[in-house]
Amino acid sequence: MSASAVKQNFKALILAGGKGTRLRPLTYAMAKQLVPVANKPILFYALDTLYNGGVRDYGIIISPETGDDIQAHVHRWKPDDVEITFITQNEPLGLAHAVKVAQPYLGDSKFIMYLGDNLINADIGALIDAFVQDPSCDASIMLKPVENPSAFGVAELDSNGNVTQLVEKPEHPKSDLAMIGVYLFTPKIFEAIAKIKPSWRGELEITDAIQKLIDDQGHVKASIYQSWWLDTGKKDDLLAANRTVLGEFLKSENKGTVDEKTTLSGIVSVGKNAELTNCVVTGPVQIGAYCRIANTTIGPYTSIGDACEITNSQLENSVLLENCVLEDISGKVENSLLGKGCRLVKAPATESHQFLLADHSEVQVR
Ligand code: TTP
Repeated sequence: MSASAVKQNFKALILAGGKGTRLRPLTYAMAKQLVPVANKPILFYALDTLYNGGVRDYGIIISPETGDDIQAHVHRWKPDDVEITFITQNEPLGLAHAVKVAQPYLGDSKFIMYLGDNLINADIGALIDAFVQDPSCDASIMLKPVENPSAFGVAELDSNGNVTQLVEKPEHPKSDLAMIGVYLFTPKIFEAIAKIKPSWRGELEITDAIQKLIDDQGHVKASIYQSWWLDTGKKDDLLAANRTVLGEFLKSENKGTVDEKTTLSGIVSVGKNAELTNCVVTGPVQIGAYCRIANTTIGPYTSIGDACEITNSQLENSVLLENCVLEDISGKVENSLLGKGCRLVKAPATESHQFLLADHSEVQVR
């Protein structure tokens, strides 16, 4: 069977609930999974990876706060041959709790659980095929060698590559293999979840559930993954993810109007009806549709959402969501993440700074 063959009776459980506290204040206004990387919501990368792996039956965990927005976006993404079931998790009580809430949907299917804020560069079709065709395997987890295993859930393996022990953020890690948020399960995981208790942080941990499966003589395999895996939980992670994805996948195209005084170098994508006047753009840079940009230096590694208006400014290594305004900013704006409709404008000629900031905003001034 080819890696992308459609998987019958196999489901995906995508976790798109949670609180996203580390990405505040952005997540006061939107779901963390809908924050764009290279102008595409993070969640869409997960949906695409699963689709390309041959999965056609998706259950998506949503929270009461951001569920409507997630549903609206997913409907926009949905190909005709995909079935989607939305499952509300009333409180973010842990990854294993999300699986428990989804049990009526999952039934007796084997399934892949995928964190909706993860970006990986993997072909998961072959992995799913191997799991589906191995009746002896109760679960399979994806692991990646990392430099700082103490920051992750770490797996220990026996000489046959079977998982023997999982430890959350170990002080003295016995391996460098971190769990990266892609798990394959049989319905046996429900029995394990039923036996575990909430952890010190009040969550039902998937690590504890898998450990319970192992302790009860379950067979848990591992697959070692070598390509990139990007967490998007915090601002700098998100900017790093944006750099990687732009660097790897962006294609040059121009659907807008670029005047003769503008220079474009490297990979630059200009969206529909965008207008660039007297700009210097050094790719990789992605400019959304209907942007108006003049007398501005942009790049590298910058994504600008639709309908932004930027004049007399400099912008590098940043992500702007749609409808932002930047006007006459004298210093370079870099390493910045701006939510929808943010305005950065030159202050009046006084010594004071003037702000209107939402809770947990962060500003650096000289
Ligand atoms: P986390 O990043 O662990 O949690 P979070 O999104 O609440 O973020 P923060 O730590 O910044 O507060 O979650 C990983 C993914 O799983 C993410 O897409 C949210 C989702 N999730 C759920 O759907 N339900 C849950 O109960 C939890 C804990 C997470």
